[in-house]
Amino acid sequence: MSEPSPSPRPPTELVERLAGADSVAVLTGAGISAESGIPTFRDEDGLWQQYDPSELATMEAFLSQPDVVQDWYAHRRAILEEAGPNDGHRALARLEAMVPSFTCITQNVDNLHQEAGTEHVIELHGNIQRNYCVDCEEEASESVLERLEEGEPARCPDCGGLIRPDVVWFGEALPREAMEAAQAAARSADVFLSVGTSAAVHPAAGLPVTARRRGAYLAEFNVDTTEITDLVDEVVRGPAGETLPGLADALESADSESPNPSGR
Ligand code: OAD
Repeated sequence: MSEPSPSPRPPTELVERLAGADSVAVLTGAGISAESGIPTFRDEDGLWQQYDPSELATMEAFLSQPDVVQDWYAHRRAILEEAGPNDGHRALARLEAMVPSFTCITQNVDNLHQEAGTEHVIELHGNIQRNYCVDCEEEASESVLERLEEGEPARCPDCGGLIRPDVVWFGEALPREAMEAAQAAARSADVFLSVGTSAAVHPAAGLPVTARRRGAYLAEFNVDTTEITDLVDEVVRGPAGETLPGLADALESADSESPNPSGR
């Protein structure tokens, strides 16, 4: 078997900034999970190219066709069941272990950062694995959703209310505590990485901008240009599953070459 090819080398300044950083924050989007086989939203084969979000990701859509919306989320959970974290998720977990303070702010609902071992994760858009009743707000177990029958929406066993996924839909506010924690992390970050997000959806997309305005060194990891490419300090072009391991490797080497590896 041949040796795996080495990860691409990241920009030197970014590695130096990271090596000297007290606080690092990362904003991730669907692109980081693309290499796990999970579709993004706005790429050519993205979900919003195939489906109309107003028919699947709004409260109005849910109330008018709850079974269709529940079924779509069940389909997305089924894709996730076959997936797992990739090298990009794992590289961020490695980075977390190498810096004094690390916050992973994610727009993803797939739980893959947690599965990769990242401890400090802020979920801005919820988590597709969790579900709750729209009436009594009790969390619903998986077994309630397994009873999903054609044309029959899943309902709360306690009060009969409809069961919805614990994700943020269009027109809904982001969870307040999560957004406040994300803003605090952005404001205090020395280095901010924007990874695999088109930075097209606010308020999440405002976080890298806030971080840079407050003095963070801002780097974008993406296969393509985004809404914020013009204002970042550094662009690392390529799939996150390759570029992020390169970054973690470089920081590890910088740490081991430092006379005081753990002390910053
Ligand atoms: P998008 O689909 O808008 O953007 C995905 C980004 O990932 C694009 O910029 C791609 O170029 C990039 N990309 C694709 N593959 C990549 C790879 N292997 N490595 C690095 N980058 C890659 O997804 P998000 O920005 O996450 O909201 O979308 C934000 C929000 O819009 C989502 O959370 C969702 C959606 O509507 C809700 O559902 C509330």
